[in-house]
Amino acid sequence: IHNVVFSESSIGSRSIAMEIADLIRHKQSKGDVCVLGLATGSSPKGVYNELVKMHQEEGLSFHNVVTFNLDEYFPIAPISSHSYWHFMHEYLFDHINIDPENINIPKGDLQESEVRKYCLEYERKIETYGGIDLQILGIGRTGHIGFNEPGSHVNSITRLVTLDQVTREDAAGDFYGKENVPRKAITMGIGTILKAKRILLMAWGESKATVVGRMIEGDISGEIPATYLQQHHNTTVVLDTGSSAYLK
Ligand code: F6R
Repeated sequence: IHNVVFSESSIGSRSIAMEIADLIRHKQSKGDVCVLGLATGSSPKGVYNELVKMHQEEGLSFHNVVTFNLDEYFPIAPISSHSYWHFMHEYLFDHINIDPENINIPKGDLQESEVRKYCLEYERKIETYGGIDLQILGIGRTGHIGFNEPGSHVNSITRLVTLDQVTREDAAGDFYGKENVPRKAITMGIGTILKAKRILLMAWGESKATVVGRMIEGDISGEIPATYLQQHHNTTVVLDTGSSAYLK
């Protein structure tokens, strides 16, 4: 695990967007598909904003891009303003030339009895594209990546999980009260994430400093699922002054 610290999150976001754009163009030059793993939440908003600008101002094309989102609340209707489906369209997909057929976001409106099979299909679909070339991640206060909360197994795959109380509290603002936050989510597993060829995790601001310190310097443990990234050979953690405050 490497870490890089920028003076401001906007500069870190720009550097992540540039790595993504370089990869997309490199794949284009070879006639290949570029498979991106995407996250939601406040952390990647700046990255998506930069990618939209690169599309609009520099003609960056997403015609060869296939995306797999990490997670989605369950149950939730895709058209709900709280869904991650809605988030991704609002901040990225509505503003770029991606083929809607190439967008994959876990479905939040299945019957619970259909979820197991659906999750296995999600895993298999990632495999049919040869796996994820570049996965971007945020980190939750519980140490979750995706919605892999404390206690998640290193070999876990895409599945239905129960959200941690801390995670539901952190989402309470968006849902106008914790009681409105769904209790479950569908998430890629730790095992799914660790198979990505390249991982960029971003964390901004002092509220992430404690968990960032434990992720990078703590023992590898399911107590802080993000510590599993220490076992991945090509992960960079992108930080700002605030989130790096407690690193040695
Ligand atoms: C979102 C996701 C979560 C978030 C994490 C941090 O798709 O998988 O792990 O990355 O909860 O959220 P923010 O960025 O809002 O602090």
